[in-house]
Amino acid sequence: MNIRGSTALVTGATAGIGRATAIALARAGAHVIGTGRDPQALAAVRDATGGTSVTADLADPADIERLAAAALGRAEPVEILVNNAGIGWEGPFAAMPPDKIDDLVAVNILGAVRLTRALLPQILERGRGHIVNVASIAGHVGVRDEALYAATKAALLTFSEGLRYEVQESGVRVSTVSPGVVDTEFFARRGSPFRRRRPRPIPPERVARAIVHAIERNRDEVVVPGWLRLPIWLHGVWPGLYRALARRFG
Ligand SMILES: NC(=O)c1ccc[n+]([C@@H]2O[C@H](COP(=O)([O-])OP(=O)(O)OC[C@H]3O[C@@H](n4cnc5c(N)ncnc54)[C@H](OP(=O)(O)O)[C@@H]3O)[C@@H](O)[C@H]2O)c1
Repeated sequence: MNIRGSTALVTGATAGIGRATAIALARAGAHVIGTGRDPQALAAVRDATGGTSVTADLADPADIERLAAAALGRAEPVEILVNNAGIGWEGPFAAMPPDKIDDLVAVNILGAVRLTRALLPQILERGRGHIVNVASIAGHVGVRDEALYAATKAALLTFSEGLRYEVQESGVRVSTVSPGVVDTEFFARRGSPFRRRRPRPIPPERVARAIVHAIERNRDEVVVPGWLRLPIWLHGVWPGLYRALARRFG
């Protein structure tokens, strides 16, 4: 899809991957609508992209409706939707606070699904558009101490896969972009740092480039960095070996 001249709605645009993506899409010629909860950070993204913004809490269905109404009411309708907002939680699942369970499901999966549902009919009507769902390597393989986080990302991957078939005749495309570890505030916000030696964190701008690339080249599934396809592949073809290695090396 040609990004120039299109309108793109980016969730989680106030920080990390979303902010980098908003800027990358603006550089590629899109009008960017950024969304998030932090009004100051949204204003900064608006300045950086020359676009617009809508403050919304994706855990709140009423806010999603308001955000969707603002997007649907524009003279230039949204053609690109980047469902990027997400939160994490790390620790043994038996100790996970119930309110965190609700938060993760609400933002990571329900938020993306509800927003997609609200915007998709208009995108389909125009017969041109691209939905990018930001998942995670965790959603492909499952990760110890991040069981629910990984499950929300797996749900997003499977949702995207089904939706892709549904809209394939319409000119609308669906991509997933699954990052490994990215150097953002994600870990500070979830309350625990990234402690493993591998995979090494990559800058959010690299993920933003992958998202732009997925839209321009119509890629179904992007993993960034690319070498992380190897563990995903091994998990698929030889799960026993993958699990033995994962138990041993984490
Ligand atoms: N960082 C990584 O290593 C990594 C790896 C794989 C996948 N990912 C995924 O990449 C995506 C972006 O993560 P990031 O690393 O850029 O994290 P980040 O720097 O913490 O940014 C998260 C973004 O999500 C928004 N957000 C959180 N809760 C929200 C809510 N209730 N309503 C609306 N917006 C909300 C935040 O905006 P406000 O605070 O303004 O609401 C913020 O803009 C997430 O889906 C994450 O799961 C990250």
